[in-house]
Formats: sequence, C-alpha cells, structure tokens
Amino acid sequence: MPNLEINFCGVTSPNPFWLASAPPTNSGYQIMKAFDAGWGGAVWKTMGIPTVNVSSRYGGVNYKGSRMVGLNNIELISDRKLADNLREIEQVKKYYPKHTIIGSIMVQSREEWHSIVRDVQNAGADILELNFGCPHGMCERGMGSAVGQDPEILELLTSWVKEVSKVPVIVKLTPNISDITESARAAKRGGADAISLINTVQSIVGVDIDRFIPYPIVDGKSSNGGYCGPAVKPIALNMVKNCALDPDVQIPISGIGGIETWRDTVEFILLGSTSVQVATSAMHYGFGIVREMKAGLEDYMISHNFNSISEFVGKALPNVSNWEGLNLKYQVRATIDPEKCIGCQLCYAACEDGAHQAIKLSDDKNDRTPQIIDDNCVGCNLCSLVCPVESCIVMKRVDEGNAFENWKERMDKDNVPTTFNDDRAGGEGHHVPTVHEAWEKRKN
Ligand SMILES: Cc1cc2nc3c(=O)[nH]c(=O)nc-3n(C[C@H](O)[C@H](O)[C@H](O)COP(=O)(O)O)c2cc1C
Ligand code: SF4
Ligand code: SF4
Repeated sequence: MPNLEINFCGVTSPNPFWLASAPPTNSGYQIMKAFDAGWGGAVWKTMGIPTVNVSSRYGGVNYKGSRMVGLNNIELISDRKLADNLREIEQVKKYYPKHTIIGSIMVQSREEWHSIVRDVQNAGADILELNFGCPHGMCERGMGSAVGQDPEILELLTSWVKEVSKVPVIVKLTPNISDITESARAAKRGGADAISLINTVQSIVGVDIDRFIPYPIVDGKSSNGGYCGPAVKPIALNMVKNCALDPDVQIPISGIGGIETWRDTVEFILLGSTSVQVATSAMHYGFGIVREMKAGLEDYMISHNFNSISEFVGKALPNVSNWEGLNLKYQVRATIDPEKCIGCQLCYAACEDGAHQAIKLSDDKNDRTPQIIDDNCVGCNLCSLVCPVESCIVMKRVDEGNAFENWKERMDKDNVPTTFNDDRAGGEGHHVPTVHEAWEKRKN
C-alpha cells in the first residue's frame, strides 16, 4: 500500500487531507468526528477576539440541477470564546496526538498577535495559520484580506508572529489581488514557513429580482461575501501553480479551493501542494467524503507506482509554460465517431456560431450525424467539449510531429505580424465565409 503520510514543514500528518478553517472546524467535537472519519488534519476555525455573526449568512449558486457548485458566505471568524477553543485544542490533541491541528488566528496589534500565538501553540497546535484572506467584515476592521492585499503589512504581521512562534507558520493568502505571488513573496520575507491558498473570492452570488436585494439577505439588506466551492477550483489551481513556480517563494504549499474528490486532490498536488484543505464539500456532504478521497488517492498512487506523496508534488509544473513557449506547429483536428454519435447536433451549433464553421450537416435529413470539414477545423476543442457523449468527438494530431516553433522564436526571427493588415496574421488561410456568401445564404 502506498504511504499517504506527509511531512509538512517538519510536522508529520497521517495524510494530506486537512479540513480548512470554516464551520466544520468550529469545535473539538467536530474535529474529533472528522479525525475518526479519516481526515489527517484540521485547521481550527479562525480564532481572535470573538465575533458576532449575522443570520442568514450563506448564498449558493446552483447550476442546471447541481446544488451549490459555488458557495458564498458572510460569516466572520470564530464567535466562540478563545478560552473554549484553546481548552478544546488541548483536549483533542491529547486524544489524537498523531493528527495535525493547525490553529488559524487573526488579530490586530502586535501585542495581540504575540499573545494569541503563545496561547494557541501552548494549547498544543502543531502549526499556526495566519488568516490574511477573509474578504468580508473582518477586512472592514483592517484584518483579513485588508492585510493580504498589502504585501508590506502582510510581511510585517508575519514577522511579528515569527518573533514568538515556536511551531511552523502558514500564511493563508487572499485571491482578491492581481498577483498572488507578490503576497507569497512577502510572506516568505516575513519568515513564513509555508503558504496556503486560496481563501474565498469576494463575490455576490445573486439578487432577489423581485425584492431587489442581493443574497444572502439579512433583514432586507445584503453584503458582498466570500465565494468558494467547486466553482473556484480553476482559480485556485492557477494561483497555486503561480506560487509554486516562483523562484522567490519555494516554501511548502497547502492547496485550497473547490476540492471535493481524490482527483481534485491529485491536481493540487501535481501543481505543487503538499497538503490540501477542504471546506465547502465537507459542509455539503459531511466528513465521510474523505473515505473515498483516501481510497481514490491510494489507487492513483498504485497505478502510477508512487510510494509517497512527495514523489509527485509539483510533477506537472515542468509542463507549464508561458503562452509564448507553446508549439505553434502542433495541430489537432476534430473527428466524430459515427458509432457513438446520438445526432444531437450540438457540435454543429457550437462550431457554426461559436467557432469556425467547420462542421456541416448531411443533405440527407435522416442522417443526423454531422461531418467535420477538415480544412476549416482549427482544432479549438469546442465541439468535443459540448458533445454529450464521452469520446464521441476526439481531437487527433494531424501535423507530422517533428516541427517546433513557438512565439518566442518567431519574435526572435522577426517573423510576427507588426501591422494591422499583416500577411503573417494567424487567421490567414483559415476559411471564413464572405459577408456576401452569408447574405445570399440568408435570402435562401
Ligand atoms: C462558511 C465559511 C466560513 C469560513 N471561515 C473561514 C475562517 O474563519 N478562516 C479562514 O481562514 N477561512 C475561512 N473560510 C475559507 C475556507 O477556509 C477556504 O479557504 C475556502 O472556503 C475555499 O475552500 P473550499 O472551496 O473548499 O470551501 C470559510 C469558508 C466558509 C465557506
Ligand atoms: S455533439 Fe456529439 S453526439 Fe451530438 S451530434 Fe455532435 S458528435 Fe454527435
Ligand atoms: S475543433 Fe473547433 S473548429 Fe474544429 S470542428 Fe470542433 S469546434 Fe469546429
């Protein structure tokens, strides 16, 4: 069996699956249940001066029958007394000495940071996580994303924590910033041992169009909140990749954002995460989801001959390039398997109106299988993405496979369009129906 144990900044965790700081980690009771279900670690709901929360506090995005593909919250940090949280950390750590407890904290002054760092590590937290990400409520009070959006302050506050911390310190970053690597570098300069990302994305998930109030509604009013769940995963993956590739960051990463399955977990690990954190999917389905995540991860590791997680942390990073490094000579074309086609003609509509008019319909009205016009197909993938039948439209390589030229090389050779009507334009040679043809077709 592969070994799921990880070493995160010198702290051993039974597996990379950690609960993110959120309602599932509000209390010792919940965290013990989660450990029993199989989670390797838990980031305690952010502790600080206790807050007062509003009701209601969540808004969801449902999409075509799928509930909560995105979740928006206007909840603040823990509304429980610090003493209660500290006592429970100590008790849980005694019962579960091998599991990882990460104490998430957020306060304001240097004295408060020093005090809470001492308290949480004395209670037995293995790691601290500094919440510089909360994009609602706390930022209005100069905390959360207000810190995460200002690299200088982020660095300063991290250095305050490092003045007294004896356990590793993770800085949790906000995605509500144009370049997250600036924050990651500031965290490193401040002495952070690791970073975690992403916290929630500032958002409004919808509006009650009859009462004219955005969701969630609190006595007739609303406020922007933090967005998370499966919808944010692509944003999170990209930001994790950016931080992992930055030569000035190079500290362990705990990946967060829309993780629900073992496959999501593997993707985060391949782009540089050592551990992953989960909030929304544990809120949606309960702690039991970790059983399938662990089993799936083990199967994946067996199928790839990986004995430990560290063997594939960042393994996809060498295959990430800037656009200018991609091979312009590589060409794929769509092919339709008529045996699998159900004749829905979605591919036709997509290519005709949304791509390159490279799919035609048969003149025979009884034959609903579309055909690809090879010369017009630019290999954009759209038809294969809209086709509802798995592997019915497959993209096949059609270049000879031995030529390589990227944009950078073309720039170096001065072989790129430089005027508005340059003959070297990429679209030259692709079929584009003339306006006159379109007009005639319309008349028919
Ligand atoms: C209701 C709710 C409360 C949250 N509270 C906190 C918090 O107190 N501290 C924190 O660092 N992150 C908090 N988060 C953010 C999560 O830890 C996590 O970064 C984010 O939800 C993305 O992960 P997910 O897509 O798995 O939910 C909260 C998220 C939700 C949904
Ligand atoms: S979308 Fe797929 S199934 Fe539908 S017509 Fe096109 S090839 Fe056939
Ligand atoms: S790959 Fe793009 S251009 Fe080619 S047939 Fe499909 S949608 Fe049309």
